[in-house]
Amino acid sequence: MHVLGFAGSLRRDSHNRKLLAAASHLACDGVTFAVWPRLAQLPHYNEDLDGIEPPPAATRLRQDIAAADALLFATPEYNSSLPGGLKNALDWASRPYEANVLRHKPCAVVGASAGFFGAVWAQAELRQVLRSCGSLVLDRQLPVGRAFEAFGPDGSLADPALGTALAEIVHDLVRLASREGSGALRAVA
Ligand code: FNR
Repeated sequence: MHVLGFAGSLRRDSHNRKLLAAASHLACDGVTFAVWPRLAQLPHYNEDLDGIEPPPAATRLRQDIAAADALLFATPEYNSSLPGGLKNALDWASRPYEANVLRHKPCAVVGASAGFFGAVWAQAELRQVLRSCGSLVLDRQLPVGRAFEAFGPDGSLADPALGTALAEIVHDLVRLASREGSGALRAVA
C-alpha cells in the first residue's frame, strides 16, 4: 500500500510538510509514504501545453498519482483558500477529465496554519476540488492551528487529541484504499 503525500506549501520549514512526516509515522506495517517533491516544477496550467506531449513534471505528476493507492494532502491556508500551487497541481492532474488520475482515488485532507482555525476553509475547498475530480474523499479534516507551536521536538503533534485524530485519518484512508481493491504492496519510487 503506497500513500502519496502533497504539501500545499513550498516553504523549506513548512508546518504542513511536518504534518505529512508525522502522518507517515502513524501508518501500520506494509504502508509506504512519499511526499511528491515537484510541485514547484509545474508550470501554470495551460490547455495549449496540455497536448500530446505535456510538460514533463505534469506527466510525472499523473504517473505518480496513478501509481499511488491513496493520497494525503496537507495544506496551509492562503487568504482563506488553498494555495495556488496546490490548486495548479490538481488542475494538471484533473485532465483529461473523464480518465483523470484523481478519479476514484482515495484521498484525505489535513492542514496547518499560523492562525487559530487550522486552515479549515482551505481544507474544505480542497475536498470540494478533489470531489469534483471524482476522488473518494474522507469527510473528516484535521485543523492544526498555531502550527508554529503544534509540533514536539520529535516531530509528532504535541496535542495528543490531534495526534490521535491524525492517526485515525491515516487509518481510515488506508482502510478506504484497501476496500477499493488497490492494496497491493508497492515499493516507493
Ligand atoms: C498566510 N497565512 C494564513 N493563515 C491563516 O490562518 N489564514 C490565512 O488566510 C492565511 N493567509 C496567508 C496568505 C499568505 C500568502 C501567506 C504566505 C500566509 C499564514 C500561514 O498559515 C502560515 O504562513 C503557515 O505557516 C503556512 O504553512 P506552512 O508553509 O508552514 O506549511
